[in-house]
Amino acid sequence: MKILGIETSCDETAAAVVEDGARVLSNVVASSASLHVETGGIIPEQAARQQIVSLIPVIDTAMAQAKCQKTDIDSLAVTIGPGLVGSLLVGVETAKTLAYLWKKPIVPVNHLLAHIYANWLSPHPPPRFPALVLVVSGGHTDMVLMKDHGCLWWIGGTRDDAAGEAFDKTARLLGLPYPGGPAIAAKAEKCRIASNKLQIFPRPMISKNNFDFSFSGLKTAVKNTIDNSESTTKDERLAAEVQEAIVDVLVTKTIKAVKKYQPRSLLLAGGVAANLRLRQKFKSEMKNLTPKVKFFVPEPRLCTDNAAYIAGCAYFNHSPIAWKKIEANPQLTIAGQI
Ligand code: KG4
Ligand code: ZN
Repeated sequence: MKILGIETSCDETAAAVVEDGARVLSNVVASSASLHVETGGIIPEQAARQQIVSLIPVIDTAMAQAKCQKTDIDSLAVTIGPGLVGSLLVGVETAKTLAYLWKKPIVPVNHLLAHIYANWLSPHPPPRFPALVLVVSGGHTDMVLMKDHGCLWWIGGTRDDAAGEAFDKTARLLGLPYPGGPAIAAKAEKCRIASNKLQIFPRPMISKNNFDFSFSGLKTAVKNTIDNSESTTKDERLAAEVQEAIVDVLVTKTIKAVKKYQPRSLLLAGGVAANLRLRQKFKSEMKNLTPKVKFFVPEPRLCTDNAAYIAGCAYFNHSPIAWKKIEANPQLTIAGQI
């Protein structure tokens, strides 16, 4: 089954054609991130306007790269939330129009749930259930147990800022550009201090007996450190300290959940999963675990927003509904599955 996926939840405009939830025939992403560098964050109105400019050319390119005509497509899939309402509406209304014109079924997709399906897009054997999943994106941090497709149980998440938000906000304090995650990672890469010596910042809730996170205090800690420091030559050290604090909490609490729930697979998903230090620390911690749990993380370009995982999610959860009934839902949560 070939599905055309459409994703416009934030500042990326994306379309992809995916066969049977695994084979990516095309995956086109246009980003308006460069427009937001000046403001240090996204202006929703500006992001939505750019979605309108980019979407049709992006869909045309995705269809052409997949060598598909509309007759080759079996179904459409579109992100309905969570996200910025203006951006979401552009994708949702465009997809509904295509479903009507092309007379195709259309599947509404939860963006957070869909991030997880980037783990099915790679050529290796697919993850086995039950799977423990950590979704770390710009707006959300959720830990869920997945017993099967469409069978999700939320076990924890952030109480305030998301992991990606922590990267973005602290990057701004460090004078680094938006998006902050890749900028902090690049700076941290240059720091030559051993990771076990990077301990300036607190690891909130790391020892708490739950699977929740809190990242808002990190901003204050970074601000205080910058305010009390006389030189800015320690940029690389501070970037590495921020990254290590976030990575340490995410890995420690997730490994604790793996020990408790003993899943067959551990899946990482969301834009922050592109972080090399996070991937590396998970890989080395998972090596020491018994019994063995298979660790999955999508290749970095599939972690950040794209439409291939939207199409993938729609394949494994193929419940089309009438196009007229599809509506954007900016507040959707990962457990509010569709
Ligand atoms: O999943 P995503 O692309 O969009 C949302 O659904 O939010 O995630 C974007 C987030 C941003 O906060 C960005 O700074 C972060 O992912 N990010 C990273 C890296 N690449 C993207 N964070 C840390 N290291 C990276 N390499
Ligand atoms: Zn996302």
